[in-house]
Amino acid sequence: MTHETPQRPAPATRGTGRLVVMVSGTGSNLAALLAAHDDPAYGARVVAVVADRGNIRALEIAREAGIPTAVVSIKDFDDRASWDAAVAETVAVFSPDLIVLAGFMKLFGDTFLGRFGGRIVNTHPALLPSFPGAHGVRDALAYGVKVTGCTVMVVDEGVDTGPILAQATVAVEPDDDEATLHERIKAVEQPLLVEWVGRVARDGLRVEGRHAIVGRS
Ligand code: GRF
Repeated sequence: MTHETPQRPAPATRGTGRLVVMVSGTGSNLAALLAAHDDPAYGARVVAVVADRGNIRALEIAREAGIPTAVVSIKDFDDRASWDAAVAETVAVFSPDLIVLAGFMKLFGDTFLGRFGGRIVNTHPALLPSFPGAHGVRDALAYGVKVTGCTVMVVDEGVDTGPILAQATVAVEPDDDEATLHERIKAVEQPLLVEWVGRVARDGLRVEGRHAIVGRS
């Protein structure tokens, strides 16, 4: 395993939810969470950033913010199940209350979901259940929809199939390409993710069938 040695978990203020953020890319959603987490009223703090690859902007953002990082790369494992178990062990080092997938581009297996299921939140750049998968923006554009957006949801064993926490819409412009549309989606996705991660951290989350419910029961 060539992941960076996980450093000691950063201390979280009492009563503040511990967030482990998982990333694969440019880290704009991570940056939005980091911009929010210093406010004690937010109720959650990023204690670690875990990636499935090195040399990504998201890891630089984490390091610049002084957040411990770890990289667990699938190419260093014989099979997916071994990688899944190693990621679960790495994330567990940081004792998360909530795991936030912020542009994390891998699917978890039974080990990870068995350990952390029900407290993993993901964001997707399309209005689910339309256009799941790795190319949600491209697929929506190719289909010719006039409105798309983003979805914040609880992760289950499927591909972008988990119970939905929140959605926001974005109009598709006639001259949009994948990059311009994704940029406008990210502009609404970041505040939506920040808002709902905070709500879940402060008020708790439960899932009843297709419904993700935030709030104390
Ligand atoms: C986000 O739009 C996310 O929904 C998608 O990839 C993008 C990640 O962006 N899966 P960033 O790495 O947070 O900038």
